[in-house]
Amino acid sequence: MIPSGGLPNAKSSSTADSSVLQISGGHRLQGHVKISGAKNSALVIMAGALLCSGECRLRNVPLLADVTRIGQVLSALGVRLKQTGDILEIDARVIKTSKAPYELVTQLRASFFAIGPILARLGVAQMPLPGGCAIGARPVDLHVRGLQAMGAEVQIEHGVCNAYVPGSSRRLKGAKIYLDIASVGATETLMMAATLADGETIIENAAREPEVVDLANFCIAMGAKIYGAGTSTITIVGVPQLHSTEYTIIPDRIEAGTFLVAAAITRSELILSPVVPEHLTPIIAKLQDIGVPIIEEAPNCLRTLSAETLRASDIETLPHPGFPTDMQAPFMALLALAEGDSVINESVFENRLRHASELNRLGADIRVKGNVAFVRGVPMLSGAPVLGTDLRASAALVLAGLAAEGKTIVQGLQHLDRGYDRLDTKLQQLGARIQRIPLAQVNAEVASNPTVEELPTSGATNRENVQSQ
Ligand code: EPZ
Repeated sequence: MIPSGGLPNAKSSSTADSSVLQISGGHRLQGHVKISGAKNSALVIMAGALLCSGECRLRNVPLLADVTRIGQVLSALGVRLKQTGDILEIDARVIKTSKAPYELVTQLRASFFAIGPILARLGVAQMPLPGGCAIGARPVDLHVRGLQAMGAEVQIEHGVCNAYVPGSSRRLKGAKIYLDIASVGATETLMMAATLADGETIIENAAREPEVVDLANFCIAMGAKIYGAGTSTITIVGVPQLHSTEYTIIPDRIEAGTFLVAAAITRSELILSPVVPEHLTPIIAKLQDIGVPIIEEAPNCLRTLSAETLRASDIETLPHPGFPTDMQAPFMALLALAEGDSVINESVFENRLRHASELNRLGADIRVKGNVAFVRGVPMLSGAPVLGTDLRASAALVLAGLAAEGKTIVQGLQHLDRGYDRLDTKLQQLGARIQRIPLAQVNAEVASNPTVEELPTSGATNRENVQSQ
């Protein structure tokens, strides 16, 4: 029996709000960094545990604010959870309510994906709409249309998506679904819903991200019948119920990519493990194009060598196996120091170039027009106070701070802590001069020393600051 110990708090957002990262740049890194479990797998697999009529044990669960948040959503539904280190035990035998709490779901988009498992298990679900966030409008129309194709009645009222399955069995029906966009979330929501549906479901133009495959493998470990995950056509044959399982989450390819860029931007040699090199193919290919040598040291281990020069290179973000949008911001920081002009086209999200103006604060030369950034490489960056407006933007500013001459102060850690498991601690262990300090300390310094530059103010609404991706 799992006692209701709940989840330990990753750095709470209030702590993150009241602290900043102070970075003295221009130092090389060295050594080995351990890559944590994948955020975008852990979140949806935790939602997937709602499908199980038994207990699940997940391993390699990252310590992230978002994991804590989705744990709170599951607890509110009556699920019992217990985390010990990177092991999470989930008991969803009893789901007490089909109604997810508004204040929690609107803080974490990924919790909306739980509408699939709840509807599949209970035949009814009330899920608040997640709303937009800093990087885009983020509609969920594809999720809703797919559930309707499987026989659900869906009404959106007062910001809540009310779904139920008519008929005595209250069971979803298999269906053929074509996704207009290869959406990760819609593929995951519908794949989960189809595992307990009556009959066969085919999802066409499905997302092929490694996290989608990881979720499918988790469901298969619980007894689901899923074929073709990782391709653009996924077939699911519904089963009456799913059983307990133990599952290990894949390493985080975006965290690994971020450390590869940290090595490149500081001209350092680093060793990263565990990683799944195939998951990083578009990232490694782009780094080699820029002039960064990367060696596969072992099946789950990569080594970067110091890059002589960084060459300009163009990027277009695309669904997997194209170049991942979550790596766009870190690469913009790197290309800001490359020789020549690079063009970055962000084609997945409509508002994901806000870090460009903050990188320009550090001396970069980037112009943005619509969804395209024109990056003219500069010989060096110089430290300054900057503000991260979303998860990957914050990471890009940390990376730029590692390379910049002098001191950089990064605000917006509430974003960083959502998706990176102790990034600053890991960088410190690699020799970075980086410290998490109270905002008050910086402000006191500003007040006592007029030469110290004032910190930028967000100017953003509170909501934008709290909404997680
Ligand atoms: C997932 O978001 C990830 N989040 C994102 O990671 C990632 O950037 C994104 O996939 C793309 O790879 C999680 O897995 C929790 P989408 P998701 O549905 O599923 C449009 C990070 O930094 N769309 O693939 O929400 C949508 O607006 C985060 O870790 C619709 O129009 O992304 C976007 O333009 C950020 N209607 C595009 O599709 C829908 O119903 C791709 O979104 C659904 C999506």
